Amino acid sequence: MRNLSADLNDLKRQHRYRRRRVVDLAVGTDIVIDGSRISNFSSNDYLGLSQHPEVIRAMQRGVEQYGAGSGAAHLITGHSKAHHLLEEELAELTGYPRALLFSTGYMANLGTITSLIGKGDAVFEDRLNHASLIDGGLMSGARLQRYQHGDIDSLRNKLSSSKAQERLVITDGVFSMDGDIAPLPELAKVTSQNDAWLMVDDAHGFGILGKRGAGSVAHFMLQDQVPIYMATLGKAAGVFGAFVAGSEELVETLIQRARSYIYTTAIPPAVAEALRASLKIIQNDNERREQLHAHIKYFRSGASELGLQLLNSPTAIQPILVGSNEATVEISRRLFDAGFAVSAIRPPTVPEGSARLRITLSANHSEEQIDKLLDALHQCCPTSEGSYA
Ligand SMILES: Cc1ncc(COP(=O)(O)O)c(C=O)c1O
Repeated sequence: MRNLSADLNDLKRQHRYRRRRVVDLAVGTDIVIDGSRISNFSSNDYLGLSQHPEVIRAMQRGVEQYGAGSGAAHLITGHSKAHHLLEEELAELTGYPRALLFSTGYMANLGTITSLIGKGDAVFEDRLNHASLIDGGLMSGARLQRYQHGDIDSLRNKLSSSKAQERLVITDGVFSMDGDIAPLPELAKVTSQNDAWLMVDDAHGFGILGKRGAGSVAHFMLQDQVPIYMATLGKAAGVFGAFVAGSEELVETLIQRARSYIYTTAIPPAVAEALRASLKIIQNDNERREQLHAHIKYFRSGASELGLQLLNSPTAIQPILVGSNEATVEISRRLFDAGFAVSAIRPPTVPEGSARLRITLSANHSEEQIDKLLDALHQCCPTSEGSYA
C-alpha cells in the first residue's frame, strides 16, 4: 500500500502542502477567519455579486418556490423552469443559439471535451490552460498536445503536422493564474485554416469583458468563429455553476452524450434564480464593470511604483511573480497577519519556479482598501536585495 504519510511529508518539504482556512462570515469584500476580519483579495467574485441584495433575494424566492434542491438530474425531473429560462438568457447574452447549464465548470469541461473527441482525434491546448481542460483532454482518449502559451506559430506547427480526423483547439479566454487574454482572433483564424474546432473557457472573462459583460469572445465579436464557448457562474456572476454555449446541434449533442451532465443532480433551482438576477445586473450595470477596470488601473500603477513584479494582465487577476514556493507562502502569511487574504499559488497549479501571489480585484473594493494592500505589499514583499522591509 502507498505510504500516504511519506507523500504528505514530501509535499511539506517542497512547500507545496495546501491548507484550508475556515471562513466564518463574509461581509462585503471582507471575510472573518478565526475572529479576525480581513480584506479578501483572493476571491473570484469580481463584480461583488455574491453579496448583492437582489441576487440574495432571488435565491430566497427560489427556495420558497422550488425548495432547497432540484431533487433529480436534468434528464429526469430536475430541470426546472428556472434552469430553462436561465439557459435562454445565457444564450441571448453571449450571442449563441443555445446554452446548457452544468453543475460546475470542471464538469462542463470534462463533459464537453469527452463528448466531442475521442481515440484517433487530437486536442491542442495552451500550456497554461486550466487543469479541468487538461483533464478533459486526457480523459477523452484523443492525443493531447500542448502549445506554447499564447503562441500561434507553436499551435500552427502542431496543427499542420497532425493527421487526426477531428482536431479541437482549447484555450482559456482569460488565463486563470496570469490574467492575460488569449489572442482569440488569431486563434480563430489558425483553427479555421486548419479545419479544427475552437473551444474557449471564459471562466474569468464572462461578466468582465465585452459589451454587457458577455465575455471575451463577444469582446472580439467572434461568436461565428468560436463554436464552443464555456464559462463559469461562480466567479463574476457571483453564484455557482457553469454553462456551455453554441449551436443547437452542439447543445443537443451534450444533452445526449456529456456524462457529467447526464449522471448528476441538477443545481438547485434557487441557484438558477439567483443567477438570473445576477445576469440582469451583469448586463445593465456597466458602472460596476467600469469601477473594476478603474481599480485594475489604480492597483497596477501603485504596484509598479513599488517595483513589484506584475504580469501583463489587463484583468481582475493581478499576479505578482515571486518564484520560490517558500518565499511565496511566507509573503502570503505575512499579508494574512497584516489583514489581507492573498493566496500563494504554487506548482503544479503554475509552472515550476513561477510561484506567485494571486491578487484579485473586485468592483466592491474601495481605493482605500487597495492603498492599504499596496502598503502591506511594500512591507511584506522582499526588496530587490532579497530581504524583507
Ligand atoms: C479557467 C477555469 N475553468 C474552469 C474552472 C472550474 O470552474 P468551477 O469552479 O465552476 O468548477 C475554473 C476555476 O474554478 C477556471 O479558472
